[in-house]
Amino acid sequence: MPNPIYILNGPSLNLLGKREPDIYGRDTLADIQAAAASRAKVHGLSIVFRQSNHEGELVDWIQEAREKGSGLILNAAAHTHTSVALLDALRTLEKPIVEVHLSNPYAREAFRHKSFVSPVAKGVICGFGADGYLYAVDAMAKFVKAALNKQAAQKPPVKKAAVKKSIGKKTIAKKPRP
Ligand code: DQA
Repeated sequence: MPNPIYILNGPSLNLLGKREPDIYGRDTLADIQAAAASRAKVHGLSIVFRQSNHEGELVDWIQEAREKGSGLILNAAAHTHTSVALLDALRTLEKPIVEVHLSNPYAREAFRHKSFVSPVAKGVICGFGADGYLYAVDAMAKFVKAALNKQAAQKPPVKKAAVKKSIGKKTIAKKPRP
C-alpha cells in the first residue's frame, strides 16, 4: 500500500458539530475522519488524520508528511488566511496538496478571501461541508496513483539475461537485445 494521505485540520475544527453549525454543519471531526478513512480504503489507500489548534504543530506534521505521506489534504482553518509559516512548510512538501474548507470562504467576510495555502495547492474544495473531505480524498487518490505510475515508468528496465542457444552439441551464448 502507498504511504498514507495526511489529512490535517487547524484551529477550532475539534469543535465541529457544536461550532456554528449553520456554517460548518453538524458532523463532528470524528465523523469526518471515519468517512474519509472508508473513502480512502475504497481507493486502496490509508489516512493519517489529525487536528491541532497550534500553528507550529501543524508545521511539524507537514514536515512529517514530507517523509511519511503520499499527499496532504489540508483544512488550515483560520491559519489559511494568515500563515506564512504554513505556506513555507507547504513549499517544502514536494507532495500533492488539496486545500479543503467546509464553508465557502469566498462567500464570506473579505478577510477570508485570501488564502496562503491556495498558491501551492493542486486544487481547492470549499462550500460542500463534510463531503468536501471525501471529494478531496477522491482527487488525492488520482494524484497518488499518477505519481506511482510515473515512478514505475521511470524505473530502468530489467536487463535480459544472456540466452543460450544450443546448436547440435555446441552451446553459444547470444547477447541480450538492448
Ligand atoms: C474554514 C474556513 C475558515 O475561514 C475558518 O477560519 C475556519 C474553517 C472552513 O472549513 O470552512 O475555521 O476553514
